[in-house]
Amino acid sequence: MTEQFEFTTTEATKLTAEAGDLSGVFGEDVRADATQIIGRYPESRSALLPMLHLVQSVQGYVSAEGIQFCAEQLALSTAEVSAVATFYTMYKRKPCGQHLVSVCTNTMCATLGGDAIYRKLGEHLGVGHDETAGTPGEEGSITLEHAECLAACDFAPVLQVNYEYYDNQSPEQALELVKALQRGEKPAPTRGPALSDFRGAERQLAGFFDDLESTVAGPSAAVETVRGAQLAHERGWIAPSMPDDVELPPLPEKK
Ligand code: FES
Repeated sequence: MTEQFEFTTTEATKLTAEAGDLSGVFGEDVRADATQIIGRYPESRSALLPMLHLVQSVQGYVSAEGIQFCAEQLALSTAEVSAVATFYTMYKRKPCGQHLVSVCTNTMCATLGGDAIYRKLGEHLGVGHDETAGTPGEEGSITLEHAECLAACDFAPVLQVNYEYYDNQSPEQALELVKALQRGEKPAPTRGPALSDFRGAERQLAGFFDDLESTVAGPSAAVETVRGAQLAHERGWIAPSMPDDVELPPLPEKK
């Protein structure tokens, strides 16, 4: 996701300038996780995206310390890390609530009620885009954001909590969901694993599945999504095969 980009050079400079001693924030366990992430890639700099997720799993956002930690671990400059961290909206520049609620307001969802859902939740929480109701990180705190297409148009209107899907929502259903989150409950997503919290989701995005079985449990495929494949199967439709003699561009040399 790369929408609503309003980060200024001044903010980026501030992010890189505020970091101090990191050992109190990123202890031995986090450094061990970082080593494991870096080991997955032939070039350490390739580990930056999961490293930023690891930082968010610790602090709930990408802080100045987080920028410096990534830079040190990956032998990058803080400017290089900041440039990446401020490009993607999944990297938060201020502390996130216990839960991140992302309401799709892109065309399909907006037409079918996404705008109304976003308005309803904003009124209830008393916040706007990228703002948090409650104290960030504390139980029941909610960060609200409107999101571009969440790649689930066949279930529109959808919202996500910590990137897990709640399909075919109405404003009333969405409101009940958010009220439950504020009470400390974790209603089951429509698809996918049980709901965690923002930091737990970030740990998974860093590539750590501490309880793999429960992480992969839960329904994934949905009738709407596989309907096209089913129809094609029933009717014997297949995609044209790839010719064997297509000349492919040469692979870039590995550095
Ligand atoms: S427009 Fe909302 S998921 Fe695609």
